[in-house]
Amino acid sequence: DNGLHPPHWPWDYNKPWATFDHAALRRGYQVYREVCAACHSMDYIYWRNLVGVSHTEEEVKAMAAEYEYQDGPDENGDMFMRPGKLSDPMPRPYVNDNAARKANGGALPPDLSCIVRARHGDADYIFSLLLGYCEPPAGVTVREGLHYNPYFPGGAIGMARSLYDEVVEYEDGTPNNASQLAKDVTQFLAWASYPEQDQRKKFGFKTIGITAMILTLAIWWKRFKWSHVK
Ligand code: HEM
Repeated sequence: DNGLHPPHWPWDYNKPWATFDHAALRRGYQVYREVCAACHSMDYIYWRNLVGVSHTEEEVKAMAAEYEYQDGPDENGDMFMRPGKLSDPMPRPYVNDNAARKANGGALPPDLSCIVRARHGDADYIFSLLLGYCEPPAGVTVREGLHYNPYFPGGAIGMARSLYDEVVEYEDGTPNNASQLAKDVTQFLAWASYPEQDQRKKFGFKTIGITAMILTLAIWWKRFKWSHVK
């Protein structure tokens, strides 16, 4: 069972001329931080990665400093705790996978750094999964501790529904219904999976432009050179 095929949602950031919506990334980070980060790590995202993307450098420094990181050894050979810096990764909810499984009824919440890239269906799958919880169809029973979600391969997932209307309070006044929260956090996770996407599009446009110019010149030059041949 491969799971219900998600609908294709018209993600703006996938349009060739569009970039990520940075206000949406900021809201999406907030959803990750306030909801998903309780169970999911993002090991490949460092605080500095948020600078100029979703927050200013000052903001990110303050956000990082709210967490404690182990460092050391100091001159006495002891390890010590210090506030987070731009060069630290996102803090983890659990010390290791065993602790993560123990807290989640045996299911391992996957690291979300590359989840959009890793799952078939890309952002469409993540968005649909987050909102897809429903009663199992007649005749289907779901084991104790699992939840029915038709988009999840197999239908029974170890993660409960976590996005409901108004569980996150946005500072920019954007409506905070469950589908908006899912849309924003999915876009944030898509950025985490494809952080180079905007750059790649910009480079692509330049490449097409310069190639067109060179081609035009080459055609003109060829015609000029051959113009005396009848
Ligand atoms: C699995 C996203 C919140 C626990 C997953 C998966 C994604 C995801 C994409 C992978 C599904 C797959 O393998 O195809 C999110 C997002 C969240 C969120 C975006 C916030 C909006 C939570 C929370 C918890 C949690 C708060 C814990 C209370 C789990 C667990 C799994 C999982 C245990 C593994 C499920 C299984 O393999 O059966 N989540 N999650 N998640 N999540 Fe979450």
